[in-house]
Amino acid sequence: MALLEVEGLSVAFGGLAALSGVSLAVSAGTVYAIIGPNGAGKTTLLNAVAGYVRPASGRIRIDGRDTTDLAPHAIARQGLRRTFQNGGVWGEMTVLENILVGVDHDAQSGLLGILFGFGRDRRTERRAVAEARAILARAGLAGIEDKRVRDLSFGQQRVIEISRALVSRPRILLLDEPAVGLSESEREELGARLRALAQEGTAVILVEHVVDLVMAVSDRVLVLNSGQVLAEGTPEEVRGDAAVVEAYLGSA
Ligand SMILES: Nc1ncnc2c1ncn2[C@@H]1O[C@H](COP(=O)(O)OP(=O)(O)OP(=O)(O)O)[C@@H](O)[C@H]1O
Ligand SMILES: [Mg+2]
Repeated sequence: MALLEVEGLSVAFGGLAALSGVSLAVSAGTVYAIIGPNGAGKTTLLNAVAGYVRPASGRIRIDGRDTTDLAPHAIARQGLRRTFQNGGVWGEMTVLENILVGVDHDAQSGLLGILFGFGRDRRTERRAVAEARAILARAGLAGIEDKRVRDLSFGQQRVIEISRALVSRPRILLLDEPAVGLSESEREELGARLRALAQEGTAVILVEHVVDLVMAVSDRVLVLNSGQVLAEGTPEEVRGDAAVVEAYLGSA
């Protein structure tokens, strides 16, 4: 059974059909890309899966459990994390603090609890900090934990955002254009990191315009166009699809 299933999903904004009857299935341990022109509905699809947008019709299931009508925090509790298209780091906070925001995301005390010790015991706090440090070390950011995020490169800021999403070891990770603004070598590192996550069993859902990256790391690719599925298949199948080339790849 697929870990994430989307069935006949439609989303409307006023009179605009942002998504129409979109279905997909993502297995654990795979990288699943969603591509398509600007305005195709890619971010809307992630928003619906994460509970930020209510679909007009269709169902979403995580591990067989219907999550369509759940609130974002309840969906997060099913093991889903996301990053945002326009980045989501706090420039004035340190790298370590940015990662700690992701620790125990569901707890009421959350960040304030960790940073200021409200409602938490010392041991929980120490464990959170240790976990955050381990994640940073794995991401190659061990030496810069106490730097302010705004002083880092754009590429490092994106790595921090993804690292924060990984703190709770999500089963499903949604990434919205993580390669924007990255250098060639940073893109390659990102690709390797996504493959490693899939290897560990995570279902990685990648919305991305950088086609080379998509083709290199994805197990399957879904092509959206005007809110509808234009094609779905392996990178090779999608790359060879005449309709996809015409609607998207030809100009990408
Ligand atoms: N909150 C909203 N209210 C109204 N319309 C919206 C809203 N969010 C998205 N849309 C519209 O829905 C359509 C799909 O937008 P979406 O952001 O999902 O596209 P996208 O594929 O992510 O595009 P891009 O590649 O530019 O990020 C667009 O026409 C967009 O203007
Ligand atoms: Mg988008």
